[in-house]
Order: sequence, then C-alpha cells, then structure tokens
Amino acid sequence: MSTIKIAIDGPAGAGKSTIAKAAAKALGYVYIDTGAMYRAVALKVTRQRINTQDTQQVCALLDELDITIKYKDGTQVILLDGKNVTQDIRLPEISKGASEVAAISEVRMKLVEIQRKLATKNNIIMDGRDIGTYVLPDANLKIFLTASIEERAIRRYNEMIEKGSSCSLDEIKHDIILRDEKDRNREFAPLKVAEDAIVIDTTGNDLEKSIDKIINIIKEM
Ligand code: CDP
Repeated sequence: MSTIKIAIDGPAGAGKSTIAKAAAKALGYVYIDTGAMYRAVALKVTRQRINTQDTQQVCALLDELDITIKYKDGTQVILLDGKNVTQDIRLPEISKGASEVAAISEVRMKLVEIQRKLATKNNIIMDGRDIGTYVLPDANLKIFLTASIEERAIRRYNEMIEKGSSCSLDEIKHDIILRDEKDRNREFAPLKVAEDAIVIDTTGNDLEKSIDKIINIIKEM
C-alpha cells in the first residue's frame, strides 16, 4: 500500500519545521526534517577541517557518510557516524555550511535517496527546499510556506535567544538573506515553488493559527 506524502518547502525561518512537526503529531504522521541531513553533512565536513565549498573533498567523504534518522518520543533524532548530533547541527556556522554542501549535486543525490526511502515506510510530512519539486514530485499535497524577511529573521533570532545563544538580529537577517539567495540560485534542485503547491504566507500570523490552517488543509485533502 502506498503511503501518504506531504511536502512542505520554503525559505529559512518560514516556520516549516515547527508547523510540520506539530501537524504531523496532531495527525499521526511521521515528520522528516531534510534540512537536518544537509546540516549533518556540513558538520562532518567542518569537523574534518574541509571547506564546505570544496566539491572534490566533500564528495570524497560521501562513500563513508553514515547518517541515520531515528525517532525518540516522536521527535526526529539524527545520528552521524552513530553519534547523536541533533543539537550540534543547529549552530549558525553549520547553517551556512549546510547551504554550501547543498549546492553540490552529489551530496543531494545521496541524501535524496535516503529521503525517498523514508517516505515509503510511513505516512509522512517532509520539509525542505526541493521536496515538492524534486524529492517527492508525486506528493499528495505540496505546501510552500513563506513570510517576510523581517519576520523570518525575528523568529530565528527568538529561537536562538531561547536556546541561550548570543546573536544579533542584523547578523541573522543577513545570514538568512545570503542562504536564501544561494538556495534559490543553485543549479540542481533549487528552492522554488512547485507548480502544484499551495503557497501560504504566514507573515503576521501567530504559530497556532498557521498550524491549524495547515492541519485543516491536510484534513480536507
Ligand atoms: O531551519 P532552516 O530553514 O534555517 O534550514 P534547514 O531546513 O535546516 O536547512 C539548512 C540548509 O540545508 C538550507 O539552507 C538549504 O541550503 C539546505 N537544504 C536543502 O538544500 N534542501 C533541503 N531539502 C533541505 C535543506
């Protein structure tokens, strides 16, 4: 029997992961965060002191890349070489590195294979940049979530402050603008709205309202 696949794409800080996670929990779907996989590759590359833009050296690591996705109390846990790196991959320098390794087509092919396999096992909500356009073109529902750059930067800033990191709003806004630009302009599977996606702009909406809206869209599907 085929599984139900819901794709949620959009730029950084649009609220994809928070909304997708909450909707998956409410509906009994498995949530798959594909950004975490690109982040894990960036973490591995950075730990080996390799430049995340060095295609040849990054590709040389791919054969031995060991990324596993597990679920603990319904939350995605990502293991890199058998170790839990769920927290480590959230550092700002890893966000930038993730966007750089994500521009390498060999990296994408490797991760897309894992993502497609995961989507065959359960009913899933998968979030990322290319889920509706490339990873799951036959998804039952495609949503493209967006919000103004100001609001996305403030949301990300608040998340970082909550976690106890010190950062400036301007710096975060600048990082998000650069990363979005890189994600939109890469050659292979760039960030863009799928032709058959529903676009939802969450600017000015509180989180609960956005979560309810998406749960309702999924229920009506
Ligand atoms: O949480 P945030 O939206 O800031 O980023 P993320 O979803 O964790 O993704 C980090 C980076 O991975 C993005 O900036 C993209 O460059 C890359 N990515 C991608 O290229 N394709 C995906 N399906 C998911 C993430």
